[in-house]
Amino acid sequence: METLKQCMQEVERIFAEEQFLAEPHELYEPIDYTLRLGGKRIRPSMLIAANALFGGDTATVRGAALGIETFHNFTLLHDDLMDRSPLRRGQPTVYTKWDENTAILSGDTMYALAWRYFLRQPSPRLHEILQCFNETAIEVCEGQQWDMNFEHMTLDEVSLDQYTAMIRQKTAVLLAGALKIGALYAGAPQAEIDKLYQFGIHLGIAFQLQDDLLDGYGDTAVFGKKTGQDIRDNKKSYLPLLALGKADPTQADTLRTLFAAKDNMDEEEKVRRVMDIYEQLKLKDDVEHSIDTEFHAAQIHLDSIAAADTRKQPLRDLMETLAGRKK
Ligand code: IPE
Ligand code: IPE
Ligand code: MG
Ligand code: MG
Ligand code: MG
Repeated sequence: METLKQCMQEVERIFAEEQFLAEPHELYEPIDYTLRLGGKRIRPSMLIAANALFGGDTATVRGAALGIETFHNFTLLHDDLMDRSPLRRGQPTVYTKWDENTAILSGDTMYALAWRYFLRQPSPRLHEILQCFNETAIEVCEGQQWDMNFEHMTLDEVSLDQYTAMIRQKTAVLLAGALKIGALYAGAPQAEIDKLYQFGIHLGIAFQLQDDLLDGYGDTAVFGKKTGQDIRDNKKSYLPLLALGKADPTQADTLRTLFAAKDNMDEEEKVRRVMDIYEQLKLKDDVEHSIDTEFHAAQIHLDSIAAADTRKQPLRDLMETLAGRKK
């Protein structure tokens, strides 16, 4: 695996060879729909890249690659229901295409299927691998709950530190966990795994900051998700929290009101008014600066790993690809 492209091609082969349809089809069709819609597949690509970084054999991580992506997609089924998001990857979300019960049960099944995929491949470190997967899953749910709690809190009640802790759990630990699992299959030394994990955490934080930015400034046709959803949901994402710190007293009060607004307000009007304030504050530049800072921190951890430089190429490619992402 010399490039990210090769890792991604391997992921596509793994998914192409897998059958997701079974009976009852009401349960499995939404699973097949979701897993066949693609997405960027960054988590399994990272898992394969991390395995190759320490000289692992890609054939040994095929199950784990399927498992980590299936777990990620499970979180999306439930997340879209919780966030009331109509679109994902440019297509209707499962709870809108089918119904809420379908999103719950097909999602639950995907979580169980993820375990089945992980259990396919024996490894001397399987206990550690499954422990990592399990702890990661718990943290993702904890992060997701903080995200939901923040919806009902005022802008002033959520600090930037609390926000960072929340995205670390809901997003970054899964990227870091994918890397760690890939490295564990390759039998990597613990000290190197720790550095790789920190690389994943910073990359994951940058990734979620970008997601927050794209929710405001992205193009729905490219991003594949309906923009402005974080504003409609009163999410205490990075954008309003940063904006509050930069705003003058009038702008700050407007933001406070808009991010506490209940259903009685016209949603599109609310999105427009919030985006107007972001424009006035030139918020995009600040968010991009924070993203660069996290990518830089990730880079330092990657550089510190004791492995041949050529083997780091897929992860360097990944940083470059993600840095310019529009979806
Ligand atoms: C979406 O993840 C959820 C977040 C953590 C922001 P991705 O942006 O990786 O989604 P897909 O799998 O590529 O669609
Ligand atoms: C992503 O948070 C975290 C999880 C899916 C667990 P978001 O709610 O921001 O993700 P998107 O924007 O819907 O993909
Ligand atoms: Mg969401
Ligand atoms: Mg969410
Ligand atoms: Mg989002």
